Amino acid sequence: MERIELAETWLSTKASPFELAIVPRSIGQRANIVAKYVEMPSISFIVARSYPGCVIGCDNKLPWHLRSDLRRFREITTGHVVIMGSKTFASIGRPLPNRANVVLSNEVRSNDGPIVADGPLFWASNREAALYLADLVSIANEKIDFFVIGGERIYSLFLDADLINKVYLTEVFADVAGDAYFRYKFARDKWRLLHEEDLSASEHDDYGSRFLIYERKERRNRLRWLSEFYTDKLSKTEWVSQYLKEHRREINSYEQAHQLELFESQDSLSLQSKIS
Ligand SMILES: NC(=O)c1ccc[n+]([C@@H]2O[C@H](COP(=O)([O-])OP(=O)(O)OC[C@H]3O[C@@H](n4cnc5c(N)ncnc54)[C@H](OP(=O)(O)O)[C@@H]3O)[C@@H](O)[C@H]2O)c1
Repeated sequence: MERIELAETWLSTKASPFELAIVPRSIGQRANIVAKYVEMPSISFIVARSYPGCVIGCDNKLPWHLRSDLRRFREITTGHVVIMGSKTFASIGRPLPNRANVVLSNEVRSNDGPIVADGPLFWASNREAALYLADLVSIANEKIDFFVIGGERIYSLFLDADLINKVYLTEVFADVAGDAYFRYKFARDKWRLLHEEDLSASEHDDYGSRFLIYERKERRNRLRWLSEFYTDKLSKTEWVSQYLKEHRREINSYEQAHQLELFESQDSLSLQSKIS
């Protein structure tokens, strides 16, 4: 058996490409396969919840108006991909401008339509499709991270996959009623607090709040086969190949840069230090 086949057999015993956190260096060297992987962008959450009630929404709306938080949300997410559920998309009412919007829905919807004037809009019918889209668009735009922006069901969907590296969390000191929640607890052994900032209520902010940034201590690295971007699988959807065509140059240069980084990496295949 060819060495490359050996390595592929070993890799195929893994359930999903997302579980291939790091390819052991010995196997990578033996089979010369390291260049086949690209590290995917990192996934972050951005969420505002009441403290201590953990409410994030009521009647498909935010239960408060906090101008400072909306501004911060815009600053942090602008230029990136944002993933959301169809309910959150409906409550916003339009694609967020200057961001690529990936909206999860079980209804079959077409991605062939014209790019919407505000921000590009892509529909995804499951988590893996949303991740693939977010990865592809982020790579083409040379972004090293993207954001899951809610609501409750979509946060849960991504918490289940345990792939989140950073959480931008606003705790709003408000005793409000709600029907959507984010109850996740940040365990100290798993999460590091990077930033903490208190803000008072003001004429523009209904309530006082605290802005926190948590980072996962043991970072999740997602790798994909480079070939995932080029095989027949992708031509299943016309718009993806169109996207690839339009962004071929950026994707190629990203791919080459990563191949170099992978080959040059002495201690580990992880690109963590370069990205964090
Ligand atoms: N405070 C915050 O930071 C914040 C942020 C965002 C949202 N919110 C609030 O959260 C509330 C909305 O949360 P929510 O849980 O009701 O709705 P949601 O998470 O925004 O969207 C749920 C919808 O997403 C789709 N979906 C869920 N899982 C899916 C899967 N595995 N595959 C494909 N599609 C899937 C389904 O759409 P279909 O029904 O179309 O199939 C489902 O109805 C609102 O009140 C909103 O204002 C708050």
